[in-house]
Amino acid sequence: MSFVPSIPLWLKNKFLQSNMKFRNFKMVGYVVYGRGSFNQLNEIIEPHRKEDDPMIFLVDHFFKGKSLINRLPLRGHDKVVFADVTYEPKTSLVDKLAQQLKDEFGKVSGIIGIGGGSTMDLAKAVSLMMNNPGSSSDYQGWDLVKFPGVYKAGIPTLSGTGAEVSRTCVLTGPTKKLGMNSDFTPFDQIVLDPELTTNAPVNQRFYTGMDCYIHCIESLNGTYLNEFSKSYGEKALQLCRKVFVDKREWDDESDDQLMMASYAGGMSIAYSQVGVAHAVSYGLSYLLGTKHGIGNCIVFDKLEEYYPDGVKEFKFMVEKNKIDIPQNITKGLSDEQFDTMINVSMGMKPLWENALGRDWEKTMTREKLRKLYERL
Ligand SMILES: NC(=O)c1ccc[n+]([C@@H]2O[C@H](COP(=O)([O-])OP(=O)(O)OC[C@H]3O[C@@H](n4cnc5c(N)ncnc54)[C@H](O)[C@@H]3O)[C@@H](O)[C@H]2O)c1
Ligand SMILES: [Fe+2]
Repeated sequence: MSFVPSIPLWLKNKFLQSNMKFRNFKMVGYVVYGRGSFNQLNEIIEPHRKEDDPMIFLVDHFFKGKSLINRLPLRGHDKVVFADVTYEPKTSLVDKLAQQLKDEFGKVSGIIGIGGGSTMDLAKAVSLMMNNPGSSSDYQGWDLVKFPGVYKAGIPTLSGTGAEVSRTCVLTGPTKKLGMNSDFTPFDQIVLDPELTTNAPVNQRFYTGMDCYIHCIESLNGTYLNEFSKSYGEKALQLCRKVFVDKREWDDESDDQLMMASYAGGMSIAYSQVGVAHAVSYGLSYLLGTKHGIGNCIVFDKLEEYYPDGVKEFKFMVEKNKIDIPQNITKGLSDEQFDTMINVSMGMKPLWENALGRDWEKTMTREKLRKLYERL
């Protein structure tokens, strides 16, 4: 009998996926939506408790000392870990959190991430690193994760990033800012309770909300667009307009609508791609640590050449909602620093291709990109 080495499932899937013309993407397992649905968390996670292994509640540090903490359904050895999201998640933090949990408990039943995009991404990454060897930086890329993580649930407290539905978790590593994109990355469960976003600060709510608006504009104006993305993108855009253009004052309905806009916007880019604003803001974020939402706003503000109607409407929303968009943030940077941003941005090939077509390199030269960075 000849020896036939068995091929691991992840490798087999990766090979099969790479031969497929149409993307066959994994989605979130379960979704609950509604005001007060957070109160159902106990029943939702109960079937996923494994003997004495604890559930870990990874909660945005904003909620330290807030009443939400008293509403967590803690049992047995369950633990609350506060996520410091002053900076967007780093691979080093993911590795540290996963190691601490392994040292303290050996195994855990699951990770429940409660917060904005940063905390949700952190929760996805820690869940994966509970079951995958090495460092999370080894898995920054596409379909590199080898094993499913532990049970993971995502509960947004800010609306806009679409991190609740995506198959990635964006991490800054030693050499790059890139997500762990894989079929194992989406949450097993999401709890969409708009009540949790009620008290978000006006500027932050706008910046994160604009991430969704920009996802829609980039997806709907991209060359990768198909009817699947268009259907979700148009709905998300309509909801963004209701809350940021039409509404006189922010109310509960605005929170309800922005939460669904985020979901639909995330679904839209799942089957297409983002575009110029994201490609350029990744460079800002890598060099200057500019956060995703505000960074996208700083860039989008100057993209009239690429998205004329979207930028006009964006400027109207900025004015109407009385938001500050920082200016001149690249003033005084050295040639070397501009080059770093240009390199990071140029590396985002699928984003440029979606935005400008296959020949994007002819349109977006390094010189042109430098001029754009100088205007930010
Ligand atoms: N995985 C994805 O598909 C995806 C997509 C887009 C962005 N992202 C990531 O999401 C992150 C940005 O997420 P974000 O814009 O949601 O912000 P965030 O999670 O970085 O949080 C921003 C700030 O808001 C605070 N905050 C959170 N909820 C609050 C609330 N209810 N009330 C008051 N303050 C609150 C946080 O403590 C933090 O100070 C970035 O790290 C970005 O890379 C991920
Ligand atoms: Fe985004």
